[in-house]
Order: sequence, then structure tokens, then C-alpha cells
Amino acid sequence: MIMNMIAPAHIPVLLQETIEALAVQPGGRYIDCTVGAGGHAAAILDHSSPGGQLLGIDTDPEAIKVAKARLEAYSDSCLLINENFVNLEAICIKYDFLPVHGILFDLGLSSLQLDSSERGFSFQHDGPLDMRLSPGQKITAADIVNTFSESELAHLIRTYGEESYSHRIARHIVQQRPINTTLGLAWTIERAIGERRGRIHPATKTFQALRIAVNQELEHLETALKQAISLIGFKGRLVVISYHSLEDRIVKRFMQQESKGCICPPETPTCVCGHTARLRLITKKVVTPFSTEIQTNPRSRSAKLRVAENIIIQDEYYKTIEENGFSDKLTVNGWRRPALLQKLRVTFSAL
Ligand SMILES: C[S@@+](CC[C@H](N)C(=O)[O-])C[C@H]1O[C@@H](n2cnc3c(N)ncnc32)[C@H](O)[C@@H]1O
Repeated sequence: MIMNMIAPAHIPVLLQETIEALAVQPGGRYIDCTVGAGGHAAAILDHSSPGGQLLGIDTDPEAIKVAKARLEAYSDSCLLINENFVNLEAICIKYDFLPVHGILFDLGLSSLQLDSSERGFSFQHDGPLDMRLSPGQKITAADIVNTFSESELAHLIRTYGEESYSHRIARHIVQQRPINTTLGLAWTIERAIGERRGRIHPATKTFQALRIAVNQELEHLETALKQAISLIGFKGRLVVISYHSLEDRIVKRFMQQESKGCICPPETPTCVCGHTARLRLITKKVVTPFSTEIQTNPRSRSAKLRVAENIIIQDEYYKTIEENGFSDKLTVNGWRRPALLQKLRVTFSAL
């Protein structure tokens, strides 16, 4: 069953800003690492036409089905892969999809996932305490809630939810176990720390913490960012939209670090790190939605977009590709044009 095909569609966040940040150009090659319902992907394909190509990745097979239906009209130029972006580099090598003009990460969940009670992400609907983005993952939120010790739970809720009442919540969870439903957990948290605090539901931070832990979101983001930088061609763009401070901190630190030359401590007399800048920050300040967007799409309110440009000509992949017998030769500034279109068609229709 295609998840929630009749549910309200996911509205892509910061759409215009994303297209500008990626500097989408006709004939360009792009990766959407979180293709979701295909909203950003469709806009990228529109703006890169004629001749543009898009590789869309999502770890959720239901999201890939939705994206496939949404992007049917672009099937000649769009390849959709059900994979985790933690394997980004291997995916690009496997499909000969590099270097690229831009890579997008629109992190977190789509409305389709949030609104689907059976996925267990939301405390607004009752459902199993699951929270896995991919059914291939072994650990669910219920496994964590029902097997972690009180101190482990408190640590997890504090670290990934930045919840100051983590100990009280953990104690109540342990007392109420087993807890196997989203509303059961939300009720337990309300009992622990009281009802709604301001506009934020008391379960918000604990649900965030569990979701991050179940899907190893922060580890995967850090790994994928490191891979992304070497897949982007000279002057290509890396664009990341994040929705909470833990993600944004990782993105901000990564982009700042990679835009610096020497990163030795200031007291070091001569450079020993050998670090060179690989990125140039395009916007020093984070990009956030206008109030008009937040009014029409309240889920955009916490979005933060950061963008950087690759300033290094990569040559390592060209050696590998030539050694592996790919016929296209390196062209100007490290850009080459793989003979991909036919391959894209075949793979898309094989999904
Ligand atoms: C906010 S939605 C993206 C929405 C999309 N930009 C659109 O316009 O429809 C985030 C998507 O990223 C996917 N996702 C999250 N973590 C992922 C990972 N590590 N690898 C691949 N996809 C991931 C989720 O399954 C979800 O579909």
C-alpha cells in the first residue's frame, strides 16, 4: 500500500531559496539525498531542464513509491534509489553519478510520515511506538523505551531531545512499562512533567530524542556530509535544510571547518594539521522561512538552510573511473558528462 497517497501532500520547505542556493542550471546534475514526496526534486528537475539529471535517495521505501508517482513525468532524467544517504558515496559510484552540480539534504520527516499513525512518529495520533524510517532497521522506539535502563533513557532524552526534565520522564517511563503506543508514551510524559508548556507539547522533545536514536540520524548526517563534499564538482553547491538545533549544529560546524585553511589551535607556532579549505560559505547567516511561508506551512517554522560551494577540483574519482574503464574523459575543471540517460531510464522503470 502506498502510504497516505490520499493524505495532504508534503509541502516542500524553502523551495525558492533551495533552488537559488543550489544555483540550479540547465543540464546540471543533482542529488536529492532526502527525496521524500519529491517536491524539491520536481523543482530541481524543472529548473535543470533541458538536460538536467537527478538522483533521488530515500531510506523509506514508501517515500520512494510516492516520489516515483510524483516524478513520473521526469522519468527520463530521474533515478530514484531506496537507500540510506549514509551510503551516498557508494551509491554515486555504483550509478556513475558524479561529479554533481549540487547536493541537497532536506532532513527530518515528511508530512506523509508524520501524519501516518502506523509509523509511530507523532503523539497526535495513536499508533505503535515504531519510528523507523526504514522497515529494514532492527530497533524500534518501543525497544528503547522498554529495555533501556532509567539512566540510559534519561541520558538519551537529555542528549537527543535537549529535555531538561529527562530524569523525571525516564523515571515515569520505567514505572509505566511496557509502553507500546505513541499515546501511551505521550500520556506518561504528561504525567511526568505536566501538560502543555507554551506552544510545545510536553512529549515533543522525548519523541525527537527517540526518533534520532532509532534512525541514528546525527551519525548518518555527519558521515554523509563528509562524503558529499568529495562528490560535488568544482563550484558545485551543498545545501542542507535542518529542523532542530542538533542537526543544525553539525551542519554549521562542518561547513565552517571545511571553509577554513589551517585548523591548528591558535597557540601552535606553525601549522601541523595540513588542513585546506574545501568549501566557501555562500551565506554567512542561516536562511530561514519568511513569515508568509510559516503561515501557509507551519511545519516550516523551525527550518534552517545553509549553503556552501566546493572550491576544490576533485580528481580522485576520475582516476578510479578511468581505471574501471568508463569511456568519458575528464573535461574542464573536473567536469565530465557520463553517458547516463539510457541507464537512468532502465533503472527508473525497474523500481
Ligand atoms: C523532510 S522530508 C523530505 C521532503 C522532500 N524534500 C520533499 O520536497 O518532498 C525528509 C525525507 O528524508 C528521508 N530521510 C531521512 N533520513 C534519511 C537517510 N539517512 N537516508 C535517506 N533518506 C532519509 C525521510 O525518509 C524523508 O522522506
